[in-house]
Parts: sequence; structure tokens; C-alpha cells
Amino acid sequence: MKKWFAVIGNPISHSLSPNMHDAWLKQLNIDASYIPIHVEQNHLKQAVESLKLLGCSGWNVTVPFKEAIIPLLDEVDDSAKGIGAVNTVVKTGDNKYVGYNTDGLGFIESLGYILPEHNILMIGAGGAARGIAHAFERLGFTNLSIANRTLEKAIVLVDELQTGQALTLEEAENDLNKFDIIVQTTPLGMKSSEASLPIQLNRIKENAIVADIVYNPLVTPFLEEAKKYNVRTINGLGMLVHQGALAFSYWNGLKPDTDGMIQQLIEQIGGNYVNR
Ligand code: ATR
Repeated sequence: MKKWFAVIGNPISHSLSPNMHDAWLKQLNIDASYIPIHVEQNHLKQAVESLKLLGCSGWNVTVPFKEAIIPLLDEVDDSAKGIGAVNTVVKTGDNKYVGYNTDGLGFIESLGYILPEHNILMIGAGGAARGIAHAFERLGFTNLSIANRTLEKAIVLVDELQTGQALTLEEAENDLNKFDIIVQTTPLGMKSSEASLPIQLNRIKENAIVADIVYNPLVTPFLEEAKKYNVRTINGLGMLVHQGALAFSYWNGLKPDTDGMIQQLIEQIGGNYVNR
């Protein structure tokens, strides 16, 4: 049977994943398709049963189903267990459906070459931050500080990871020169939100890397501010592409071209922005 893949979510029409995966399938001469499926909030169980029944080869899961899908799967890989969220489902040779999470790992791959001894500051302690923090911890990056507007949430995340420290945004701002990598995970900077900064960057370390998980706009006000200090900036497009590339490799056993895809999406989103 011809392979087919899907992405389920609500809403789903804005998803860049179908274009991305279709292009990779074509580039690698794989005869398969990838379709977006809008699932009603209370129809997830039926949707998953249908995907299984119709022999879907694997699918991505996006908001708001990343947590709710877990009990509907046959197995959940360690990458998703700790976080409690699945973004990729893989059909195994014996027709089992296994849940993975490639978001955090994809984000870390988008940073390029980094060292376990690097000091990492994460801003935000929501769902996106949890995925990335767990991936850092699994890869052995233990010098992790999590700063959040609501300190209690950062404390809960640090307790869960059993590594790192929780900070207020003010503490993070004051100690900024300690950090080699700064990761902005709050929705601040997205098109619809206010153009404000979660922390000021005036104490930033020379040669720091500043990453924002937002990719629309490609340059958030936070990255705009970071550029003033001449540090390397990375937007969320790399995370989107690398999490997709990991899912693609789990499904097809081949690694697709990530750099070319980032360029393609930059053109699609608009602008001739250069990430580094
Ligand atoms: P997601 O799942 O996308 O990460 P979330 O779980 O709602 O979204 O988390 C949003 C994160 O952005 C939280 O860390 C939130 O801080 P609080 O825990 O204090 O709510 C942070 N956030 C949202 N708006 C913010 C703002 N205006 N200033 C600072 N942090 C903000």
C-alpha cells in the first residue's frame, strides 16, 4: 500500500508541515502523501481510530491534542513520556502506533554546535518550554536556568527535571552575563501579541546565542533587540524544520534537507531574512 502521512490539529489550515513534508517526499523520490486533517475537539478518539483503521503510516500531532492523544496510542517513547506530550506518531512493522516527541530535540538541533557545559537560560515555563527543557536534560545539558514571570511554575519545572534552577525574570536580567544560550519560549513577539520584551538584554554576554521559538514574524522584537548586541540570533523556523525532519526520518529512514527547507519557508513566510 502507498504510504501516507498526516498532521492532526485544530486549527490546522495554517500549518506549514504539509508543504514541508510534500517537498521532502518529492526530493527523496518517496511515493507518499502528507495531508492536513482538522479534528473537532471532542472527536480525537474517533479520528485516531480512523487513522489506524485506514493504515496511516504516521502522523504529526499539533495543538490542542499533544497531551490528549497519549492514552490512545499503543506505546509512548521516553522522548514523549517525561514531557507528557506527543507530536509524532510512528506505525511500527507490527502495526503498533508509537508516540514520540521531536519538538525539543528539533529545537536543540536548530542551535547547531553547542556544548554540555554551556550555561542555558530559558525564558518561560509553559508547554513549549517543558518540551525543550526535558530534551536538554535528556541530552545531558544540566546547566539549565528557567526564568518565568510566575516563579512557581519555573520551580515546578525544575523539580520535575531534577536539575537546574528557577529564577524570576528580574534575576535572569541581572545575571544575564552568566548565560551562553538564551532561549525565549513565551508567545511574546508573535504577530498578534504586544511587541514587548520578556527581559532586557543590556547585561548580555559577548558571543551569546539568542534563540526565539517564534517564527512568525521571523525576527521577533526580542531577536531585534539581541541583534543590537551583535550576538548570534536564531528564530523558531529551525525548530519547526528540525522537528519535522526528525519525524520524517523516523517514518522514512532518511534525513531530509533542513537548510534548504529553512530557506524555502523564509521565502514562503516572506522576507529575505538571514538567520545567523
Ligand atoms: P506554550 O504552551 O505555548 O508554552 P503556555 O503554556 O501558555 O504556552 O505558556 C506561556 C508562557 O509564556 C508562560 O511561561 C507564561 O508565563 P506565566 O507562567 O507567568 O503565565 C509566559 N508569558 C506569557 N505572556 C507573558 C508576558 N506578557 N510576559 C512574560 N511572560 C509571559
